Amino acid sequence: MSMDANEVRQAFVSFFEKRGHHHQASASLIPHDPTLLFTVAGMVPFKAYFTGEQIPPFNRAVSIQKCVRAGGKHNDLDEIGRTSRHFTFFEMMGNFSFGDYFKAEAITWAWEFVVDVLALDPERLWVTVHLSDDEAAEIWVNQVGVPPDRLQRLDEDNYWKMGSTGPCGPCSEIYWDKGPEFGAAGGPKYGDQDRYIEIWNLVFMQFEQQSDGTKSRLPKPSIDTGMGLERTVSVLQGVDSVWETNELRALLETAAGLTSVDLATASDEQKVSLRIVADHARSTSMLVSDGVFPSNEARGYVLRRILRRAVRHSYILGVDSTANAQSTVMGQMVDRVVEIMGPHYPDLVKNAAFIRDVIAREELRFRETLRTGQAILDNEMSKLLTDDSSATSQQLSGATAFLLHDTYGFPLELSEEITNEHGIKVDKDGFRLAMAEQQKRAKDARHEDSTTDSAPLVALLQNHGETHFTGREETESTAEIIYLDDKTVVLNRTPFYAEAGGQIGDTGSILTESAEITVADTRYGVPGLIVHQIGSVSGTPEVGQKVTATIDNQRRELIRRNHTATHLLHSALRTILGDHVKQQGSYVGPDRLRFDFSHYEALSAPQITEIEDYVNAQVLTNAHCNHFETTMEEAQRLGAIAFFGDKYGDVVRVLQAGPNSTELCGGTHVRA
Ligand code: SER
Repeated sequence: MSMDANEVRQAFVSFFEKRGHHHQASASLIPHDPTLLFTVAGMVPFKAYFTGEQIPPFNRAVSIQKCVRAGGKHNDLDEIGRTSRHFTFFEMMGNFSFGDYFKAEAITWAWEFVVDVLALDPERLWVTVHLSDDEAAEIWVNQVGVPPDRLQRLDEDNYWKMGSTGPCGPCSEIYWDKGPEFGAAGGPKYGDQDRYIEIWNLVFMQFEQQSDGTKSRLPKPSIDTGMGLERTVSVLQGVDSVWETNELRALLETAAGLTSVDLATASDEQKVSLRIVADHARSTSMLVSDGVFPSNEARGYVLRRILRRAVRHSYILGVDSTANAQSTVMGQMVDRVVEIMGPHYPDLVKNAAFIRDVIAREELRFRETLRTGQAILDNEMSKLLTDDSSATSQQLSGATAFLLHDTYGFPLELSEEITNEHGIKVDKDGFRLAMAEQQKRAKDARHEDSTTDSAPLVALLQNHGETHFTGREETESTAEIIYLDDKTVVLNRTPFYAEAGGQIGDTGSILTESAEITVADTRYGVPGLIVHQIGSVSGTPEVGQKVTATIDNQRRELIRRNHTATHLLHSALRTILGDHVKQQGSYVGPDRLRFDFSHYEALSAPQITEIEDYVNAQVLTNAHCNHFETTMEEAQRLGAIAFFGDKYGDVVRVLQAGPNSTELCGGTHVRA
């Protein structure tokens, strides 16, 4: 009996737990990292541990991370349905070493897992290493015993980067040979891509790609591996492609049923469309569950694009566009996704009705634009066809093709297909130009180039550890200066709150025997290290001097009232609008508060009044606020809301603001 997805998940985690790895639950698909649209790999939540910006609470970790590759550098969208191995959503199993073990352990364990636990035939496994990586090649051949003729060296394919910035390094991959019926022999380097399927990538993280194109060394060589769950299951189940594994096959059957296509006799193109519907149903359900909503910007835009692409393919398959909200194709696909994946993703079950609602609404909305887009295309074509000038003018402009693609969800290929039927070409260069301009705008919006030099601060963190924050107990502390330059000062301990979780940084003063520094703002230089921004200096402060650090307490009092109020507002929103409401950001200052949240429609005036009344009623009860440290397990048991899904420390801080609001929060708050 071959293993199913769940058995593989369990085997992977337990194999690495036995080898001292901490099991880390999957983080959200929305990363903290501003340079990424989605969580594209298992290493994303651990980025700061690799770069040394954050001290890891464990040196080894194992995770099964949900990933989406549908935008930015890692984008598999156009491959979906056309290959036997790509998805927009997939699960990546990985083991990680943060400056602990390196190549020898990563390689020998990977082999042991594949050969001994999964029981894959070693004769059908191939490995690749980077051109320059003699060390990895030596381990594979001499320590593991892989025959040298089944090891190949690749260049760029064996160098892994997180994005245009971030950790990177040479990598080594394990491939499975599906057999001669799947194409030419020759191993991953020379053979057919559909025949040699990559199942595991071991990255030897050693560098950090900087935005200026240079690379710096990571503090310590580290390991990041990624094994695709679905691909591995397809190999274990001996099926031709990932689409034939139980879960995907079940989704394909549902898609076929909804579109009245017979899976057994479907044409190749129909199969591609069915796979697109099935794959996109998974990724869109998971994205909405993690708080992404269809919109015209960034993540929401990518979600919209995926969703519309799926809807369009269901219509190509012949779905009747007059269906009502109950019978939307994607709404019904969501039901099936929840049924199939729910047992492993309880959030999907919890959010099911909401996910269905968001996705069905978007499908209904798209029907309009689908009709409008087709009308634009018909109109342009009839203009071109009645214009009897030379054949060169019989070209759909790049700008129109891009408008159709961008606004109406018509991929270039569809516009081409339709126009070609009438002997009209599409100006593809013009299309690419319009696309490049748009991508540049998207890139600018992602602030890809906003990294600063954090090396001196990382060194401080490594020498002195995290700054001890005293500002929950006192407003004035004695401390010592451990770093000083024109603009910033760092103390070993401080009552100054550094901007985090929306709460702005404290201001105040730092007095030494011979000098006075006013503090204009306080921030984390790198996670864990509190840095005071200097407003003005009189006298000559020096590193090593004892100081008295005092915050502007009147200002802090105003800030903490606003911070507790954001929690009341959050609980009001969830009570009145529903549990799907997710915090997207906030501003908590002395002057006001702002709370950003996701919801699928604008609030009505009566809803706003109801929310205000709810918060005011809570304030008037003057209930006790309880702010305490506990374990993550206990916080979960108490039902604490943790919006961003991925807190790593075992110890977390919980705020209970009266009886109805329990959240993880590291801010400062009122007592009642
Ligand atoms: N980060 C690598 C990848 O995504 C290995 O996990 O392939």
